[in-house]
Amino acid sequence: VNQANGVKGLADLNLPNVPPQYFQPIQARLNKSKIIPQDSEQSIPIIDFTNWDDPEVQDSIFSAATNWGFFQIVNHGIPINLLDDLKASVHRFFELPVKVKKSVKENSPPEVVRLGTSFSPHAESVLEWKDYLQLVYASVETIHSYWPAVCKDEALEYMKHAEAFIRKLLKVLLKKLNVNELDKEREQTLMGAMILSFNYYPACPEPELVAGVCPHSDISSITVLLQDGIGGLYVRDKDGNSWINVPPVNGALVINIGDVLQIMSNGRYKSIEHRVVANRNKTRISMPIFVNPTPDSVIGPLPEMLENGDEPQYKQVVFSDYFKYFFSKGHDGKKTIEFAK
Ligand code: SIN
Ligand code: FE2
Repeated sequence: VNQANGVKGLADLNLPNVPPQYFQPIQARLNKSKIIPQDSEQSIPIIDFTNWDDPEVQDSIFSAATNWGFFQIVNHGIPINLLDDLKASVHRFFELPVKVKKSVKENSPPEVVRLGTSFSPHAESVLEWKDYLQLVYASVETIHSYWPAVCKDEALEYMKHAEAFIRKLLKVLLKKLNVNELDKEREQTLMGAMILSFNYYPACPEPELVAGVCPHSDISSITVLLQDGIGGLYVRDKDGNSWINVPPVNGALVINIGDVLQIMSNGRYKSIEHRVVANRNKTRISMPIFVNPTPDSVIGPLPEMLENGDEPQYKQVVFSDYFKYFFSKGHDGKKTIEFAK
């Protein structure tokens, strides 16, 4: 089966079965009995960001980042119509004729625009049921030259608003780690390189056999994810053995702590494993912003976290090395962080 046109190219053939390259081994599939029912006591916190300067709001963010590593934010200050426009532009992009998408792939430098399928196909034994477009939030000139015209304005407008929100959220997260000022150097380390990704998960004839995304933790400082109304994102529960859904909430952004903040906080904040399940009937899209350090940033436990005599739990790593290591293998749960041990 030809994979050059990604999973969407395959799905458009309306095959009754999934090609074997996408069959997850049985132990890697999500067993329904391991899913925590939606109406149970446990659920990912939803936090209203309106009064983000209020100590009570900051406490709830701290508690969510410490206990869950995952939370949703409403009233983040990004206009809802921008979120809707962005989602529409993602569909427009993936529905472009194959030859137009091919030309996007061929004519853009990978430092700015990457169109691909699965996660790291050269390193994976089984492929993930997902295509993606990654837009690097670089200089205005590169953006205008290379981001695809069908989604450029929407993506740029969204990123401008998102950047302001992300700065506020990182301020709160850092303040709770006794870092009172986000100076330029720390800003580069936390959010110096941002990537807006469009994930496209076509409807799948045999969803139980495949993975949209296999269990992994993000390597970012934080990830800020906009999802559509379909659902399919699951987070590993504290008991380690079951999975909790992150239900779509209209207008909300899903925030998760990445490995970089787990390392910088010396383990106080948790970068939690998550995965995506494919859908039998509907195409799902999600739009994460990977809030990454600049490549040359040195990542290690913050001095502020070691002041009281705590032992560092991680060694210092250069972010570009960490990044390369992550992509050198398939998704494998929380194992990437061993690189900093
Ligand atoms: C991911 O974590 O890689 C994707 C999350 C999502 O699509 O919801
Ligand atoms: Fe992720």
